[in-house]
Amino acid sequence: MTSSVAEEIRLSDYQAPGYTTESVHLRFEIHDGETKVSSTLRVVRQNPESTELYLDGEDLGLVSVSVDGRTLSENEYQVDEQGMTIFALHEAHEISIQTLIHPEQNTALEGLYKSSSMYCTQCEAQGFRKITYYQDRPDVLAKFTTTVEADSAYPTLLSNGNKIAEEVTGDGRRSVTWEDPFPKPSYLFALVAGDLSVLEDSFTTQSGRQVKLQIFSEPHNIGQCDYAMDVLKRSMRWDEEVYGREYDLDIFMIVAVEDFNMGAMENKGLNIFNTSCVLASPDTATDAAYLRVEAVVAHEYFHNWSGNRVTCRDWFQLSLKEGFTVLRDADFSGDMNAKSVKRIEDVGFLRSVQFAEDSSPLAHSVRPESYIEISNFYTTTIYEKGAEVVRMYRTLLGEQKFRAGTDLYFDRFDGQAVTTDDFAAVMAEVGDIDLTQFKLWYQQAGTPVLDVSEEFADNTLRLKVKQSCPDTPGQSDKQPFHMPVELGLLDAEGEAISLYDLQVDCDQKSRVIAETGSLLIELRASETELTFSHLEEKPVVSFLRNFSAPVRVNFSRDEEELAFLAQHDADGFIRWDSLQALWLNYFASGTEIDLAGLITNIASQPLETVEEQQLVATMLTVPDANYLMESIPGFDLDELLRRRKALRASLAASPVWPELYERFALDEVYQPNGAGMAGRSILNIAFSYMAENMSGDELLNLTQNHYRAADNLTNRRAALAVAINHEQYDAQARQALLKEFYERWQEEALVIDLWFSLQAQSDQTAVERLRELKSHASFDDSNPNRARSLYAAFAMFNHERFHAHDGSGYDFLTEVVADLDGRNPQLASRLATPLTRWGRYDDARQSLMQASLRTLSAREGISKDLFEIVSKSLPDA
Ligand code: TRP
Ligand code: ZN
Repeated sequence: MTSSVAEEIRLSDYQAPGYTTESVHLRFEIHDGETKVSSTLRVVRQNPESTELYLDGEDLGLVSVSVDGRTLSENEYQVDEQGMTIFALHEAHEISIQTLIHPEQNTALEGLYKSSSMYCTQCEAQGFRKITYYQDRPDVLAKFTTTVEADSAYPTLLSNGNKIAEEVTGDGRRSVTWEDPFPKPSYLFALVAGDLSVLEDSFTTQSGRQVKLQIFSEPHNIGQCDYAMDVLKRSMRWDEEVYGREYDLDIFMIVAVEDFNMGAMENKGLNIFNTSCVLASPDTATDAAYLRVEAVVAHEYFHNWSGNRVTCRDWFQLSLKEGFTVLRDADFSGDMNAKSVKRIEDVGFLRSVQFAEDSSPLAHSVRPESYIEISNFYTTTIYEKGAEVVRMYRTLLGEQKFRAGTDLYFDRFDGQAVTTDDFAAVMAEVGDIDLTQFKLWYQQAGTPVLDVSEEFADNTLRLKVKQSCPDTPGQSDKQPFHMPVELGLLDAEGEAISLYDLQVDCDQKSRVIAETGSLLIELRASETELTFSHLEEKPVVSFLRNFSAPVRVNFSRDEEELAFLAQHDADGFIRWDSLQALWLNYFASGTEIDLAGLITNIASQPLETVEEQQLVATMLTVPDANYLMESIPGFDLDELLRRRKALRASLAASPVWPELYERFALDEVYQPNGAGMAGRSILNIAFSYMAENMSGDELLNLTQNHYRAADNLTNRRAALAVAINHEQYDAQARQALLKEFYERWQEEALVIDLWFSLQAQSDQTAVERLRELKSHASFDDSNPNRARSLYAAFAMFNHERFHAHDGSGYDFLTEVVADLDGRNPQLASRLATPLTRWGRYDDARQSLMQASLRTLSAREGISKDLFEIVSKSLPDA
């Protein structure tokens, strides 16, 4: 590895560009094995001192470069591995560059590449520089005109904006020209060439404009695009209603591609999607997959305003668009389904994944100070914690002022590249509050901790809240955060105690939220005391309602009270969270409470509404091992897995499961709606508990009946999972079912991903079996979905085998990551992250995991991506 590979980019070094590119004309001539890219740039001086122009460019075959029609001689420009500098420039120029690229050989899936039969692009964050020499930075916004020329094997030729010309260019070749009227950074550029089928629809905006909607896919997938189209229309309406944002072009296109490093990409007017985030049909997508399609289609659509119309000045501001857009898609999903359940799922994910990142060697702030490879910063901290930060502005300001703030933000910064400080300034202005301390959320990494204690005497409740934040790499002695804490008080009947009638004293700003009756305290100090006087009896405190701030709470309290809250609080999140606290008590210290009895009670409620069914469904399963490991620092993994099994077995004995199984075994046609999903989740939970203590024919019959009765992948998956995971399931019958499933669905890539993934996650799957799966005819890790289905599923969810005492699980991952790094660095570095979480495990495992990281770091020709991850996570680094 050369030293330039490890170069660190710092926020403090940011400099505005000396020249900007105002417009760019691109022409792509696609030939088998080689694509010729011609670009003509209009560049204009911004800084009177500038005479040089720097253009990024990597792995490009430079053919020619000319300025104002004159081909440059060798001393007029300089080229190195990372780009080109053109010297002695004046006010404004027209620069023409021709390059040759080889998309067929592009296995990194950045820039222009080939995915099965089609050509497509992925330019965020820095892929455009692999297409042509360009100012590949988000603060350069240009008008793009793009011509794509190819032979008749590629009749579908797409790019951003509106189609302005079509031509037959001879030799059976055609070209199509697209013009995007909105100036944009290069990371939003997109191109697609293929032989694609299309699903069409239209949408009439609130101002009455008609927008053509198209979803393209390879012909065999076109039947699975209807749900995404429906979501797209709902998203467009929602953004008009909730944020007053209307779509701006006459056409909006989505293209589904099989080989894609991430979920999807918000390119202007031409979103490109991983098939896993757009395709859905009852037989090929689980309920979870439907929800993911809903979230991602909305997310990418919402970027049209939060990201595209108003973009980021530099990549340190990534959360400006991602955090905000995640909040927007989460609210959308909450409005489409059950709000509290969406919140619970998001908090569960934050706690098991983002908290883990924030307490790992890779902890970083929402606005990082430096990076080696920006692709490594598309993290749950930037996305999910970033969304929590934007959510806190809203909680502090209230809905109305927040909306006034977003209106002002979109209006003031339309067409500009801005910073998280600009966003904060707008919120401070409309909210008329000082957000200086609040901005620490962007600077300080680590999950803050609230230590809460209560005392009740003389009809007065005293609540003490101390806040602190652990040290993270490069950051110690942190300042207290400004955060909103919502709380409520319940009486012995579970009724809300009105906070309007009580005397509440607090030295911090506080108010009662009219809609919920909760008290909102603006915590700023490291220690805060709250008193509630004139109480008739000791109330039950419902603390951090709605998870109003992304913090850990230590509040050791009466288990009876937690069980009470789990059944009675008005806030769905608190009901779930109180039960989580009880599960954690069980694991950490053994609980006094009869958990099986409590779960039986919760499951035996009438469950009349869909929302109640969905909420209760989130409460019936024992938290997964990642959540538990993250929530109980220092807990032994083997002990945890043992206790988890024992607890499941004891809950399985409840008589409630067969009752629920019968009640929810509806034989209505599959519907991907709230009622259907609620019913299926309860049905499948009941099913897996029933199977838990069974064996022999009883187990076989129950599972096979469940499998055969299924008219959808959700139920079929549940049955297959039991067959794969259950120790008592007959080995031959297991193989027969796996074979049957494989043969039936082998043409459906996403279903086969699930088939690999279920096996990879099972503690019945030893590393030897994993190696067999790796050489299966259908396995090919150059497809990221397939690679993740085996490798990530194994490393993230197969705790038993990945963390095997002999290190064989770590060895397996190390091997595959090292091999992938040469082909797809983004994917390799992501797959390596489970190894960087060594801090959670015992000494023996820690040293094995670190040894793996050392092996990777010694890899000859290691990528920047992987180098950054392994070097930052080794303890002596
Ligand atoms: N901006 C994309 C999003 O909606 C993220 C993304 C898609 C991405 N593809 C990528 C990031 C490739 C890095 C590399 O969240
Ligand atoms: Zn995004």
